[in-house]
Amino acid sequence: MQDFRYRAPQIAIHWLVAAVVLFLLATGMLVLAELPNNAQKVGNLRIHMILGGLAALLVVARIALRRRLPPPPPVQGETLGWLGHLALNLVVLLLAFSGALLVLQSGALDAVLGNGVLPEDFKQFLPRKIHGLAARAAIGLVGLHVLAALYHQLIVKDRLLFRVGLGFGKAGQSQ
Ligand code: HEM
Ligand code: HEM
Repeated sequence: MQDFRYRAPQIAIHWLVAAVVLFLLATGMLVLAELPNNAQKVGNLRIHMILGGLAALLVVARIALRRRLPPPPPVQGETLGWLGHLALNLVVLLLAFSGALLVLQSGALDAVLGNGVLPEDFKQFLPRKIHGLAARAAIGLVGLHVLAALYHQLIVKDRLLFRVGLGFGKAGQSQ
């Protein structure tokens, strides 16, 4: 019998990445970007960097896993879905890459490692601009991704959410 779900490791990675990325997008915009670059900010930045690195590692693991655990057979509109998933994976990797570049270029890494102070402001560095734009693109892509998932689930009624472990039945088959 064919399985219409992603395998357990892929489903676990999907929800872990989703939780971490949503947390970073919200706290990055609402907390981190608003804080002045003083000593109190260092702890926040450290957590942000660790979680951002973790998200990127999980995305790399997800891509590597595709060879061993192929995804379930495609559903209707798969080309758009494929493009959307590619864009989501790329934007998370771009966020981690631009974030890493930013702490290296600005000298903030020393402060995070415990010897040194943060630069007066991150805004003067180009990777900061890229990081901010990528974060806005990520919010747009995640919004479209959720709308697409709800459209499939509620209007096409192909139980798409079952593919990522939500609900029962066989996704990919219209009723
Ligand atoms: C930051 C948040 C999220 C990211 C980065 C993300 C990313 C992805 C990616 C890359 C895939 C392709 C599957 C794979 O390669 O393993 C996927 C599939 C999927 N996601 Fe998300 N996702 C997020 C949040 C959500 C949320 C909140 C929902 C529920 C409303 C959702 C529902 C789905 C569904 C139903 C699929 C299967 C689609 C298919 O197989 O055609 N995702 N997601
Ligand atoms: C998936 C991973 C990540 C997400 C979703 C994310 C998200 C964000 C967001 C939303 C902001 C605020 C942007 C704005 O308001 O314009 C931000 C700022 C920042 N992020 Fe990230 N980030 C990620 C990874 C990283 C990594 C890996 C690092 C460093 C290694 C990093 C370092 C920073 C720094 C230094 C700032 C600037 C704070 C400021 O301007 O005061 N980020 N991030």
